[in-house]
Amino acid sequence: MSSYVSPRASSCILGIETSCDETSAAVVMDGRRLLSSVVFSQMDEHAAYGGVVPEIASRRHVEAIIPVIGEALARAGMELGGVDAIAVTYGPGLAGALLVGLSAAKGLALAAGKPLIGVHHVCAHICANYLEFGDLEPPFTALAVSGGHSHIYRVRDRRTFELMGRTRDDAAGEAFDKVARAAGLGYPGGPRMDAAARGGDPDAIRFPRARFADGPYDFSFSGVKTAALNCLNRERQKLALAPIAVGAWAGSAPDGARAEPGAAQPHAPAPPALTASAPIAGGGAATPVPSAARPPSPETGHVPGAPRPPAADPPGGGLCGDLGYGLPPAFMRDFFAGFQKAIVDALVDNTIRAEMENRTGRIVLAGGVAANSLLRARFAEEAAKLPGVALYCPPPQLCTDNAAMVACAAHGKFAAGEFSPLTLNASPGAAMP
Ligand code: KG4
Ligand code: ZN
Repeated sequence: MSSYVSPRASSCILGIETSCDETSAAVVMDGRRLLSSVVFSQMDEHAAYGGVVPEIASRRHVEAIIPVIGEALARAGMELGGVDAIAVTYGPGLAGALLVGLSAAKGLALAAGKPLIGVHHVCAHICANYLEFGDLEPPFTALAVSGGHSHIYRVRDRRTFELMGRTRDDAAGEAFDKVARAAGLGYPGGPRMDAAARGGDPDAIRFPRARFADGPYDFSFSGVKTAALNCLNRERQKLALAPIAVGAWAGSAPDGARAEPGAAQPHAPAPPALTASAPIAGGGAATPVPSAARPPSPETGHVPGAPRPPAADPPGGGLCGDLGYGLPPAFMRDFFAGFQKAIVDALVDNTIRAEMENRTGRIVLAGGVAANSLLRARFAEEAAKLPGVALYCPPPQLCTDNAAMVACAAHGKFAAGEFSPLTLNASPGAAMP
């Protein structure tokens, strides 16, 4: 452990985040007050490949990291000497991307004689809520849902995260991204599907939901992903269109590690090509629902205090014109709406159940998928029915990757004098501490 300063409750921390395709730096006071936040997104560049290309991500981080840190300090009106510690994401994430942030943080810590604090990416996502909600204190039930995680935690204090439920295969963000890619939406899949589902009937096609007797709060999204592929191909068959082939969404992330889209190769065109996963418990086919049996399409509305709805033309360019590679646009809207609903239903149901069976009085959302408009609306709806349960849902810019959450999460460690050695390494599959 390095200990350049004595720990104290008050802190001014420079955070650095480079775990995937955002180069970000931020300055946060006392784990609550944001002085500056700079996020440089590489999304547009990766969009051309249909997913994040790890080597490109590392190279862009190398170019951007110093200017981004300089800008964050300047916007906070500070010099490096004025911060108390330097916090950085050590994992999970892409190894080469993490190493850039780590190396920069170590260099600055050494040069300025400041302590280094390594932060777990998912803890940071959850801690983003402390920045937005000044009154939020543990304990609470947290849903951390991103490209690599779909986990429910009982958060006992700022540094104790007890796992209650987890995905047994794909993360929700990964399922969004892969199905979006297969359906021609391109990258980033989640926000594009959020936009493309608008106006679709979420009950026109029913996708399967998985349940586990031995893990009541666990998720599985590989079955719904397979059902989505089968659904597209069934529709294609009816119209005598060639099936979407197996093989294009290869590169499933191991549990706990961020999705690393192995299919994203330079110059690789978007599919039609998919890998069908093995069916899982509760999986099965997507079922078209006869229109007479459907309720009217629910109006999700706007969630108070939060959601900037995703732009109709999301970051990374407009929606691809050829949705479903020739399938009718109305069918595709229903397809996206139904798929999104299946994912959101599972996330909402399990989280609400986890809270009701282990009451804390608070539900906290975190991670990129928490930016999803339907997820936010459904949680707001369900939480409103539960007396004594408050919902905390950070604004979308604090859901997706950013360094403010990293600086915020480091505050508890700083106060406890828990510093990292300068030998700290990247940990692409880091387990929750
Ligand atoms: O937390 P994050 O920025 O990076 C990771 O830690 O993975 O989350 C990225 C994930 C991606 O899978 C992206 O498609 C998903 O969050 N995402 C969304 C939305 N915005 C981002 N998924 C659904 N709807 C959205 N609006
Ligand atoms: Zn993240």
